[in-house]
Amino acid sequence: MDVRVAPSVSRSPEEVGEADSRIEARVPTLAHVPDHEADIERILISGDEIQDCVRKLGERITADYDGQDLLLVGVLKGAFVLMADLSRHIRLPLEFDFMAVSSYGAATKTSGVVRILKDLDHEIEGRNVLLVEDIVDSGLTLNYLLKNLRTRRPATLEVCALLEKAGVQQVPVHIRYRGFEIPPVFVVGYGLDFDERFRNLPYVATLKPEAYQSA
Ligand code: IMP
Repeated sequence: MDVRVAPSVSRSPEEVGEADSRIEARVPTLAHVPDHEADIERILISGDEIQDCVRKLGERITADYDGQDLLLVGVLKGAFVLMADLSRHIRLPLEFDFMAVSSYGAATKTSGVVRILKDLDHEIEGRNVLLVEDIVDSGLTLNYLLKNLRTRRPATLEVCALLEKAGVQQVPVHIRYRGFEIPPVFVVGYGLDFDERFRNLPYVATLKPEAYQSA
């Protein structure tokens, strides 16, 4: 095999100093993303707690679907982080599909109107479908999606959601695989956004009131 190594580039002491100070500015802070430090109010669930929980959910799903066909359906955009982590803890042959639904945008309350922005790529008739959601708040999104997917006659249809807000569901929802119950507050991180930001935080946190004003 012909392996080529890129020639090393020599840098002046000034250039090295500049690079070092840029790296220093990116050293992990409490907020993980230094630019978000001022916006984070409180970390509700740490990255380690999430990883531990997602691993356990993956183990349960592995046991429950052992020997069966399984299709994971992620609800974009928020569930993309959970999908990536969870799927690697499911030790079974898997297939993936995604749906995208309208989100809050720069608001923090659901309108109750759910719009499908991207539908599944494949038929789900006769398949074991596991819908993967980031968070269940009013439950209206999940309720709409479940009704919609049921009309396509999957063999089974279950839900995995990392978070459920306590006591605010406007419709009854059954979450077979639930990570954490949290208070009914707006949260960001681990896929969840406010105005498309904060999705890459490894933990779940609340924002300071000022953070909403800059949107
Ligand atoms: P629901 O229809 O009220 O249950 O809201 C479901 C969707 O709203 C979720 O899939 C999220 O995309 C979004 N959402 C609900 N609560 C929050 C939150 O606290 N932070 C960020 N997005 C949220």
